[in-house]
Amino acid sequence: MDSDVLSPADAASGASAAGSPGASPALPRHQAPTDRPDAGHEWWRTAVIYQVYVRSFADADGDGTGDLAGVRARLPYLAALGVDALWFNPWYPSPLADGGYDVADYRAIHPMFGDLAEAEALIREAGELGIRTIIDIVPNHISHEHEWFQAALAAGPGSPERERFWFRPGRGEHGDQEPTDWVSSFQGSTWTRTTNPDGTPGEWYLHLFTPEQPDLNWNHPDVRAEHEDVLRFWFDRGVAGVRIDSAALPVKDEALPMLPVDPAPGQHPHVDRDEIHDIYRAWRAVADSYEQPRVLVGEVWLEDAARFARYLRPDEMHTAFNFDLMTQPWDAEAMRRSIRRTLAEHAPVGAPATWVLSNHDITRPVTRYGREDSGFAFDRKRFGTPTDLALGTRRARAAALLTAALPGCLYIYQGDELGLPEVELPREVIEDPMHFRSGGVDPGRDGCRVPLPWSGDGVSLGFGPDDAAEPWLPQPAAFAALAVERQEADASSMLALYRDALALRRDRDDLREGDLAWHELGADVIAFTRGGTVASITNLGGAPIALPDHRGVLLASSPLAAGMLPPDSTVWLAVEPAGDESA
Ligand code: GLC
Repeated sequence: MDSDVLSPADAASGASAAGSPGASPALPRHQAPTDRPDAGHEWWRTAVIYQVYVRSFADADGDGTGDLAGVRARLPYLAALGVDALWFNPWYPSPLADGGYDVADYRAIHPMFGDLAEAEALIREAGELGIRTIIDIVPNHISHEHEWFQAALAAGPGSPERERFWFRPGRGEHGDQEPTDWVSSFQGSTWTRTTNPDGTPGEWYLHLFTPEQPDLNWNHPDVRAEHEDVLRFWFDRGVAGVRIDSAALPVKDEALPMLPVDPAPGQHPHVDRDEIHDIYRAWRAVADSYEQPRVLVGEVWLEDAARFARYLRPDEMHTAFNFDLMTQPWDAEAMRRSIRRTLAEHAPVGAPATWVLSNHDITRPVTRYGREDSGFAFDRKRFGTPTDLALGTRRARAAALLTAALPGCLYIYQGDELGLPEVELPREVIEDPMHFRSGGVDPGRDGCRVPLPWSGDGVSLGFGPDDAAEPWLPQPAAFAALAVERQEADASSMLALYRDALALRRDRDDLREGDLAWHELGADVIAFTRGGTVASITNLGGAPIALPDHRGVLLASSPLAAGMLPPDSTVWLAVEPAGDESA
């Protein structure tokens, strides 16, 4: 029954970093990372990493916005969930023109989240529970409020301060045409014109995102030195790694040409230029200079698999987000092809794959999988899209087990473990620039950033104290039934499924580290074994399927009926090792 066997790149990485999990799900499962005898182990090859969007996680001071004290108070929840690391979205001072991806000061914490001492306490306390910390670094741009940009504006044309950015005169007789025809990732223009002190129109500056996010000039030595120093600043505070935002974009063609029709790979004026790899090689050297090497995780959106893999060469990033599976529709053939492609593209560079069902930019899985168009693309998001949440939830449960069974590193975006849906927010509360820059056509990304429900009661369903201010984005009434407290009391909840899955993944070396072998169980089924002893079977078809021979059922995303796996479900089975006829 075996077809090809793929050895995951993590097979050589040795024993689990985890040790034995505690018996009680309410107790911390880990030793502190720094205390472990295997602290140098390449933990990131098989880690489960939980993404914390601080603003919406837990609000300890009751001002309606999440904060670091809220995260600290909920660390036992994260330990009980069974995650190895937390990735925090940008937590720095910022005017929040793009949810904090407009950083005003890299060496401080946004006052509404806390302060540096609080961040240090959080990193330490998480570490004591065996949970590592990854923070977000945004190299492509900074906030227009950052002191460098303010100095550049004040210093004027031709000044050294402006050379850290891309200031240019406009085209045309009056300089009123943009210097290039580049299109923003958020739609619209990539240039904004400045005003001279005397009120006349001045130079333009480049921003691939919003005007509040001026692009840095990575040919400038200050920009390179500053970022390496920022890395050390946080690594010295115990941060285990960085997530690198928009990692394929920072280097620009200095000539700032117009967009070519069909640029050769590496020759696009602002995407994935060949020179970019020098930056990450230098960062890797910084990361490797620590006794416990720090980890680089890239946000690399590139369709070309070979170009993507270049970022994962041994002297560059350790891992990068694999968004391919997340964009696929709920279709066995499309998803299987994506998984095979992903594993095949990672193998030659020796990097583990990552599995991502969503993040703070993406429509929530229970919503996505409940729609006719169940794939994901930024330009297909619309208000009022019909959604079958019961179907979507069933599929999201199946997808959670499928991805947790794949070889590599697993990401969980906060709230997905509760099965929270995407929220269709009233237009007047939306803050996301993607909404505004689409002319109001795209609902934007705030619908997956709504504050978490913890208790199901009170003004913010336990997100903040009972007498707290209303949460910064309104929670729908349906969030109450999905609150953590309610799900903890329900063995069939999404939360229980995630906890069970992560506990099994932690306990079982085969599931976490074993070779993957594909099995053919029909066109609508995704089936594989890990280590020859555990099988993951996902039924994406319309009819129940019979289970193959097995020793026992480990976990199922929906109840099995008469030994059959129902539609839109995944089951994990303990199976006899291949070739063992004794069962
Ligand atoms: C990344 C972030 C996104 C942000 C953008 C610009 O894609 O995930 O939230 O808007 O970069 O920094």
